[in-house]
Amino acid sequence: MGASVLEEVLWPVQEAQLDTRRLELRVKALEQEVRSLREALVCSFNQMLDLRDLNTGVHSTRLAEWGMRVGRDLGVDERRMADIEMGALLHDIGKVGVPDQILNKPGRFDE
Ligand SMILES: [Fe+2]
Repeated sequence: MGASVLEEVLWPVQEAQLDTRRLELRVKALEQEVRSLREALVCSFNQMLDLRDLNTGVHSTRLAEWGMRVGRDLGVDERRMADIEMGALLHDIGKVGVPDQILNKPGRFDE
């Protein structure tokens, strides 16, 4: 009889704990999915920049590599490292919309 009362009390608690655990796992899976989608999006933009202007794409990739090295040396946490990488890869993305005669203009822009 006592065990039955104990089970009646514990059962909902255990169920709630399982629900919480399931939700935590689901949140982790969704967070991973968001990270993967973000990486794919940044990679796509970087490839678009490569297609628009190869030197700029290579420049952005190199900047990201250097940024990650510096970030690692400074002990930057993983989340900030991802921001550094994304910022470096996308910092020149505006060039995608710049006309060729401006993007490839030799000399100064004010001439
Ligand atoms: Fe740049």
